Amino acid sequence: MMKEQKNTADARKAAADPVIQMDQVTKTFPWGGSILSRRRTAKVLDRVSFAISKGEVLCLVGESGCGKTTTGKLVAGLLNPTEGRVLFHGADIWKMDPQKFKAYRRAVQLIQQDPYASLNPAHSIFDTLKAPLVRHGIVRTQEEALSRAKELLQTVDLTPPDDFLFKYPHQLSGGQRQRVSIARALTVNPEFIVADEAVSMIDVSIRLSIIALLSRLKNELGVTFLFITHDLAMARYFAWEGRIAVMYLGSIVEIGTTARLIQEPLHPYTKALLLAIPEADPEITRHKQTLPVRSLDIPSLLDLPSGCKFHPRCLFFIEGKCDVEVPQLTPREDGRLVACHLRSA
Ligand SMILES: Nc1ncnc2c1ncn2[C@@H]1O[C@H](COP(=O)(O)OP(=O)(O)O)[C@@H](O)[C@H]1O
Ligand SMILES: [Mg+2]
Repeated sequence: MMKEQKNTADARKAAADPVIQMDQVTKTFPWGGSILSRRRTAKVLDRVSFAISKGEVLCLVGESGCGKTTTGKLVAGLLNPTEGRVLFHGADIWKMDPQKFKAYRRAVQLIQQDPYASLNPAHSIFDTLKAPLVRHGIVRTQEEALSRAKELLQTVDLTPPDDFLFKYPHQLSGGQRQRVSIARALTVNPEFIVADEAVSMIDVSIRLSIIALLSRLKNELGVTFLFITHDLAMARYFAWEGRIAVMYLGSIVEIGTTARLIQEPLHPYTKALLLAIPEADPEITRHKQTLPVRSLDIPSLLDLPSGCKFHPRCLFFIEGKCDVEVPQLTPREDGRLVACHLRSA
């Protein structure tokens, strides 16, 4: 009981002073369109809301194509919402004056899935780190740039730094390249990091060491995280003391503290994702299992199912209810929010 009261109090505190807040954000993209077919719009995100308070980790999980990267880009200000607002310390980022917007863009950094694609192959590691340091006036001389770049390489465990400073991306391993992108994000002392599948393309054997590095940044530098992954095992590992938001076809279907959500998943989709994690090797999902659902087909965003978007795949589907009414995200006693008719019945 005490613990539940504390969780609710924490949830209230988080809601009261969030660093980042998504307020009923909807995003649509134009889709297709040719001489033969009409141009249509796909609703990729549908009224997504969440708040992340200082020092907190929120993990966003869901299958490929559900809207995770779009959410990350909206949080980082690289895309604007079709409807709704994205708030940074309570201010609508798309209503900020240019100076405030610049400060926000500096405070919120994005680490992407593929460091090879995001690092310039023609730039040495030093050039890559120096550019933002100079652009933001953090260093003024070549000596300062060198010394700060070395510190950053040390922070991300690329040591001794002299061995890495003048190398090029192709001379590094995948894990080392991802460490460089993390160092580059750190050049501007960010307050918030969006890590989008930051470990998904990295060899399984070194994934956990990158996760450990990100955890250290959270604890030592007080960075707040939106950690995006399709892999609930990774979410559980990184956000053990944080929260998980489960996304399905552009909607959050369940959000709550990691421990509660893993111990007692309430949404049938969360249950299916959890059952797909191989038990014998919970940290590393080397052997992918298929989701235990009625249908493996993910519906098209252009032709979304009526009622609950998950109903055609749900093992607990109630005919006449789930295919008719859209379930709303509803708060539970333990502070969790769940959008499922089974839970509101
Ligand atoms: N710029 C875009 N234009 C059109 N469709 C897009 C665009 N970006 C993403 N999408 C579509 O939006 C959906 C969600 O994509 P994304 O956010 O990348 O999902 P995830 O990261 O969960 O795999 C996908 O169906 C994708 O094809
Ligand atoms: Mg993605």
